[in-house]
Amino acid sequence: MIRFTKDNSQFQLDTKTSTYNMQVRDGFLLHLYWGARLEGGDHSYFFREQGRAAFSPRMENCGGFILDDVPLEYPCWGRGDLRTPAIEIENPDGSNIVDLRYESHAVSAGKPRIPGLPAVYVENDSECETLVVTLRDKYSNVCVDLYYCVMEDYDILTRYACVRNEGSENVIIRRAMSASFDFDHIRFDVISNYGTHCRERQIERHALQHGRYTMSSRRGASSHVHNPFLILTSPTADETSGDAYATVLVYSGSFAAEAAAGQFDSARAMIGLNPEEFSWTLASGESFYTPEAIQTYSATGLTQMSQNFHRLFRTRLCRGKFRDARRPVLLNSWEACYFSFDEERLKKIGTCSAELGIELLVIDDGWFGKRDTDNCSLGDWVVDKRKLPNGIEGIYNHLKELGIGLGIWFEPEMISPDSDLYRAHPDWCLHIADRPRSEGRNQLILDLSRGEVCDYLYDSIAAVIGTGMIDYVKWDFNRNMTEVGSEPLGKEKQREVTHRYYLGLYSLLERLITDFPNVLFESCSGGGGRFDAGLLYYMPQVWTSDNSDAIERLRIQHGTSLVYPMSAMSAHVSASPNHQTGHVTPFDTRFTVAFTGSFGYELDPTQLCDEDKQRVIHTGNLFKEYGERIAKGNYYRLRDPHEETCGAWCTVSEDQSLCIAGYVLTHVRMYGNNERIALRGLKPDALYKEKFTGITYRGDQLMNFGLHAPTTLEYQSILWILEEQK
Ligand code: GLA
Repeated sequence: MIRFTKDNSQFQLDTKTSTYNMQVRDGFLLHLYWGARLEGGDHSYFFREQGRAAFSPRMENCGGFILDDVPLEYPCWGRGDLRTPAIEIENPDGSNIVDLRYESHAVSAGKPRIPGLPAVYVENDSECETLVVTLRDKYSNVCVDLYYCVMEDYDILTRYACVRNEGSENVIIRRAMSASFDFDHIRFDVISNYGTHCRERQIERHALQHGRYTMSSRRGASSHVHNPFLILTSPTADETSGDAYATVLVYSGSFAAEAAAGQFDSARAMIGLNPEEFSWTLASGESFYTPEAIQTYSATGLTQMSQNFHRLFRTRLCRGKFRDARRPVLLNSWEACYFSFDEERLKKIGTCSAELGIELLVIDDGWFGKRDTDNCSLGDWVVDKRKLPNGIEGIYNHLKELGIGLGIWFEPEMISPDSDLYRAHPDWCLHIADRPRSEGRNQLILDLSRGEVCDYLYDSIAAVIGTGMIDYVKWDFNRNMTEVGSEPLGKEKQREVTHRYYLGLYSLLERLITDFPNVLFESCSGGGGRFDAGLLYYMPQVWTSDNSDAIERLRIQHGTSLVYPMSAMSAHVSASPNHQTGHVTPFDTRFTVAFTGSFGYELDPTQLCDEDKQRVIHTGNLFKEYGERIAKGNYYRLRDPHEETCGAWCTVSEDQSLCIAGYVLTHVRMYGNNERIALRGLKPDALYKEKFTGITYRGDQLMNFGLHAPTTLEYQSILWILEEQK
């Protein structure tokens, strides 16, 4: 609910359990409060004016604020606030100043679309109310509309800004963050994800300290290294208690998220496009929209925070027919055969997969051009008749007879220097004239800021998937950006290239998913190099990591679950010993870890022993039986595999009648340690029967004492399936 009280110029934005307050004073939009829900009242006294100048100027000569000591909603650069600004503008006279003051506001039902950008949506206007506060710099006539979309039932607030140039000359936006958050204390821990290829989204937590702590990417991708979100918690917060303030950016390119503690022990956090590589020329009459930032507050720790994001992302960010559907059990050819396949081998794999109950075979890299290794052919999306003499149709017809679907891999945004496309269009990649072009994995990146490049990609992909033979597309992106230049944009707009690239990518994806609604798209970037809310708007699942080792995946999934739902995590059982780490893990452990994600296999089924084949049939059946309910359930992290010698978690269906819990021992201790795992989210007085043992427990037993876990063999695991007995 959004309330505006005229007498004291206060805005109150309420979600189910939180309140966010702002106030207009002397024309400035101040931040008053973000926390547990308040029921009305005048909150003016929350703002404590202490007059601490400490070398900072006072506004409007002697009467006004010392802005450097005021909590602001969208702080500007160039006047009294000398902390990090949310916005910087270069004016026609070259000055770098913007002074935004309240002009008007409007409240409406529903949630407007952000032109060209992914964003949370609503299915009905009653799900959301939107407040737009318009601020103006009366000297330059630059206006900023701050959007606040309140999704009360979801406990979510989303924000973005629109910068409008109502002046008569061009201005340059040097920085325009999506959201900024001021707090009047610094008693916070900062929690973030860090990592690298094959070790994405590990968790780091430390106390907020004086100075600026930034997590960012200048890689032209949200990246394996950091993830576009920021979590601030009270220092003692854990899964079940304490304050958690979190924001996630709906964007896939370079970003910055920052938390800083200032001189008066107040904190400022912000998230948005990375200003280090961005600027945007805004001509008279033009507008610029920032990506959306989503925020949530939990007074009961990290689980509730994560569940708020999970529910929102599953139901109001992901779209299309696969949003709510159980995803097919698939087998991906990459770790089964890498580049060495032909029609015959794929048919054998297909036949065996069908016998084992697998529902879809994905032909990964290597089916097009002349690609026997990773040094050529990206861009030439035409089937390689040496490997598939009967085209895609040959394998499709075979699978169709077996009753299973077909998926295919693309890496559309890339171009190999050794490709027909590059020979025809050497200028279509990102590059800077006369400078060498750096290759990553022997490839360059196409310039998606150019319309003709996006059109080419649309046509080549549509030619393959438009035949009706393809049920699934894996969309890969296997390097980061360098030499980010685009000649057609001219020299003034070179710092716009990365963002324009993403506008191009998003519009290409929008066209494809609109025209091919029956295809399930999965995004990938060397695994999870673009695991972000931006791409989830187009593709409801992501290949979580190129590290398919179950033990490593425990940590990766745990870190990913801070923000993203399990249904978005594509998780496959791969061969043992694992190809990346050499770990030897029991089949059951690999299955237990993959089961709660979007499930599949990454191995050659024809090589499995009979026992493992039976296990594939059994596990596939379990996923078919429970997959949909788990995907829609609430996820609880029970043990932290980063900190402890095991991992444990559970998912509880929305109606609390089903609980699937997993436990994996990652390091054995001689003679064990009486390990037991207490579950969460159950009905205390309901009876739950465990599927494999037939034992019945009460919910309160399961939640307070828990279940005994195995402790004797390294990488041993257990999966519990508990159903309520009615
Ligand atoms: C990336 C992906 C892998 C696989 C290869 C193919 O690394 O993450 O899953 O598709 O590319 O080249």
